[in-house]
Amino acid sequence: ELAVSLKHQSLSHLAAEAGTDPIEAAGWAVDIRRHYINAETTERLCEYADSAALEAARDALFSGQVVNPSEHRPALHWALRTQASGHDAEQVFRSVQQALSMADQIRRDRDIKSVVHIGIGGSDFGPRLLADAFSDQQDPGLQLRFCANVDPLDLNLALAGLDPRTTLIIGISKSFGTEETLYNLRRARAWLEASLGPQQTPHHMLLVTANRQRAENWLNGADIATLDLPESVGGRYSIWSAASVAIMLAFGPDLFKAFLNGAAEMDQHVRTAPLRTNLAMRLALLDVWNTSLMGFGARAVLAYSRRLRMLPTYLQQLEMESNGKSVRPDGTRLDTDTTPLLWGGEGSIGQHSYHQWLHQGTQIVPAEFILAPGARSDAEGVEALSAHALAQAEVLANGRSLAQIRAEEPDLPAEIAAQKVHPGGRPSTFIYTSALTPQRLGALLALYEHRTYFAGKLWGINSFDQWGVEQGKTMAGQIRSALQGKAVSADPVTRDLISRLGRSD
Ligand code: F6P
Repeated sequence: ELAVSLKHQSLSHLAAEAGTDPIEAAGWAVDIRRHYINAETTERLCEYADSAALEAARDALFSGQVVNPSEHRPALHWALRTQASGHDAEQVFRSVQQALSMADQIRRDRDIKSVVHIGIGGSDFGPRLLADAFSDQQDPGLQLRFCANVDPLDLNLALAGLDPRTTLIIGISKSFGTEETLYNLRRARAWLEASLGPQQTPHHMLLVTANRQRAENWLNGADIATLDLPESVGGRYSIWSAASVAIMLAFGPDLFKAFLNGAAEMDQHVRTAPLRTNLAMRLALLDVWNTSLMGFGARAVLAYSRRLRMLPTYLQQLEMESNGKSVRPDGTRLDTDTTPLLWGGEGSIGQHSYHQWLHQGTQIVPAEFILAPGARSDAEGVEALSAHALAQAEVLANGRSLAQIRAEEPDLPAEIAAQKVHPGGRPSTFIYTSALTPQRLGALLALYEHRTYFAGKLWGINSFDQWGVEQGKTMAGQIRSALQGKAVSADPVTRDLISRLGRSD
C-alpha cells in the first residue's frame, strides 16, 4: 500500500523532499532522488535489508564462505583484484598475476601482431567491453579480434586477413565444454595447422580454463600453454581474471592493473560502508523496490558514454543470468518478481530511437543514466553530452502537460496538443563521474557485481548458479541429431520446421 500511495505522488515533489547529497564511492556519485521512494520507504527498506542480514551476507562473501549453495562454492571474483588471505583467495589472486606475466612474456619475446579471442558469454562480454571501451589506448602494433558465435561467419571475419605466422589464438572457456567455443577453437586450430603445421601450431595458441582435464583431452598431447580460471569465479564475474589475457596483451599491464585497482577501491567501500551509505546495498534495495514493490518489469541502462556503449550487454548477463530466477536455494518458489529485464544502449544515440517509447509509451520503465565522458578534450562535446543526459532525466520525470503545451502553443490543434503531452512520472537514477578511465570502469563494474549479489540476497535467491542455461543446450544436441536425420524430434512444430529448413534453398 505504501508503493501504491507513492506511485501517485509527483517525482519532482518526492525529489524535493529527498536529501540532496548523492551517494558517493570510488570516484562515482549516484543520485536516486527521482524515484517513488521517501524517507519512510527508505527506512522500511533498510529495516528489510537488516532482516535479510545484508551486512552479514557481505561479510560472508568477502570471507570466502560458501555463498553459492547449489554448487557448494564461495564467490571469489573480488579476490582477483583484492589480495586476501586463505588458500583459495591466494590461489585466485595468483592466477591473475600468472596471466599478467604470461602476457608480458608474449609481448616481449614473440612476434605477435594479431590476437583472436575465442569465447562466449562471461568468456567474451567482459574482454570485449574492455577492448571497445579503451580502443584508443590499444597497442597500435597489435590487432585484437573477437569470435563468439557458432555462425561460421563469426570466425571467418575474425581470421580474415590475418597471417597465421604472427597470430595468437586464445581460447577462453571455464567449463571447456561450451559447444560454440570448442567449434570455433577446432576451426581456428585447423586454420593455424594448414599454414604452420602441427609442430608450430601450439606456439600460436593459448587456453584459459577451470577444467584442465577436458583441456588435456582436447589438446590430445599438443603442448599449448594454459592459464587457470578458478572454479570459485563465476563466468559472468570473470572479467578480472585470466579470461582477459587478450586485454593484458593488447593494452599492456598498466591499463589492466588500473582497472583492477578501481574495483579494489569499490570493494573497500562495499566491505566497510554501513548499509545506509553503502552504494551497492542502497542500489540493490532500490532494485528490489522498483521491481517487486512498484512492479516495474524492466530497467533501461542509458550509457551517456561512448566507452560504455557495451555496458548494457555486459550487465544483461551479470544481472539477468545471476538473478533471473524464481526458486530459492531450498527449492521453494518465490511469490514476488525478481530481477527485471535489463536493456539499454548508448546515449545520446538512444534519443533517436527508443526514447520516444520511454517518454510516451504505455509502460513506465526506470532509467539508469550513466554520464561518463570518454574524453574531455572538447568542452563543447562534453557539455552537449551532459545536457542531453540531464534533459532526458528531467523530462522523463516531469513530463510536459497539456496545459503547458497549450500555454506555449495556443494555436495548436487540440488533437496535436494531446499527442505532444509527455506524461512524465518516469523514475531514474543518475550515476556520474568526470571521465571514464580504466580505474573508474573497474569501480563501476565491481559496484554492479555487489549490487547484483545484494539484490539476489534480498530476493532470497542464489546469484551464482545458472541452471536455466542447461536445458536449451541439451535440446540443441537432440535437435542436431534430428537435423542429421539420426533422430526424430518429439515436438511437432520443431519436426515441421526441421523438414522445411531442409528444403529451404
Ligand atoms: O551457458 C551460460 C554460460 O555457462 C555462462 O554462464 C558462461 O559465461 C558461458 O556459458 C561460457 O561458459 P564457458 O566459459 O564455460 O565456456
